[in-house]
Amino acid sequence: MSENNIILTGDRPTGPLHLGHYVGSLKTRVRLQNTGEYEPFVMIADLQALTDNAENPEKIRQNILEVTLDYLAAGLDPSKTTIFVQSHIPALTELPMYYSNLVTMSRLERNPTIKQEIKLRNFERSIPVGFMTYPISQAADITAFRAKYVPVGEDQLPMLEQAREIVSSFNRIYKCDILVEPEAILPDSSSCNRLVGTDGSAKMSKSLGNCIYLRDDEKTIKQKVMSMYTDPTHINVSDPGHTEGNPVFSYLEAFATDELFAEYGGDYKSLDEMKEHYERGGLGDMKCKKLLNNVMQETLAPIRARREEYAKDKGALLEMLKKGTEHAAEVSNETLSLVRKAIGIDYFNDADFIERFVK
Ligand code: TRP
Repeated sequence: MSENNIILTGDRPTGPLHLGHYVGSLKTRVRLQNTGEYEPFVMIADLQALTDNAENPEKIRQNILEVTLDYLAAGLDPSKTTIFVQSHIPALTELPMYYSNLVTMSRLERNPTIKQEIKLRNFERSIPVGFMTYPISQAADITAFRAKYVPVGEDQLPMLEQAREIVSSFNRIYKCDILVEPEAILPDSSSCNRLVGTDGSAKMSKSLGNCIYLRDDEKTIKQKVMSMYTDPTHINVSDPGHTEGNPVFSYLEAFATDELFAEYGGDYKSLDEMKEHYERGGLGDMKCKKLLNNVMQETLAPIRARREEYAKDKGALLEMLKKGTEHAAEVSNETLSLVRKAIGIDYFNDADFIERFVK
């Protein structure tokens, strides 16, 4: 492999995808896919979803095709991107077994994303082992495809750090250069990296009920935008307001492209000008929300239309997913057999083993 342009990323199918997924990673995937310069793999991470949903596999079953539809709706094209299901890829259950011997408990416990997720789920000490070790499984997801690039939001950086450590330990210990150190491709603005919830909390998350979903209809979007949290100190229109930490402005930053702003921004030449007015006082929340609603409707209408089109033939959808999964299994099996050889456990095909121990 002279030039490595492989991309891998994925999502847990625990619910439909929302705007946080969209600006954090989906949009980047579609952009990179359409350059034609990469070989992208996108994975429905059902194994990872099971790490904290073992008792509720039905939730995951319900979301496999939903997430697939969200992918296609957002613009992923199965003729350019391999879309596949994690649980059907043998390498993704086998590689973590080898990698887990290269990672210490204390290293896992230091992972800031894991720490935060444990808190969020109130696990205390009753953490499923599979959940605790999912960063190792995620390292397998990436390395099985020898992916160089991983488009993610910044909350996934600790996972990439862990993956790089595993790669370097593996290549050093087994004296090879099979595994590739991956790097993250982050969105370029901070409001995209960590899209806040409609209630103003730090993260858009299904369990917090503060999401706008890619599949939401026009009415739902409008209702969610109009009831969004803003600046609680901005009581009268004439009061000075805060744009920092104000989700309406975070969303405008993330979604109001120059074209959309030119179309709906009214008297304002730029978002900065509008922010200034809000901070100075004299600009009401209603006006800002109306602008945001227009921007969101324009952004989501084509996505929803594509979704409805693809949803007409679920059989074709399943077939596409199956084909993608077969291709992904093939590609990752190559890595798996190299890994077995490197460790020295490929007994039945290893000439050196046969020479020394059989003949
Ligand atoms: N942890 C990711 C999330 O919660 C999903 C994921 C699983 C992933 N495997 C991956 C992301 C590999 C990037 C690369 O969204």
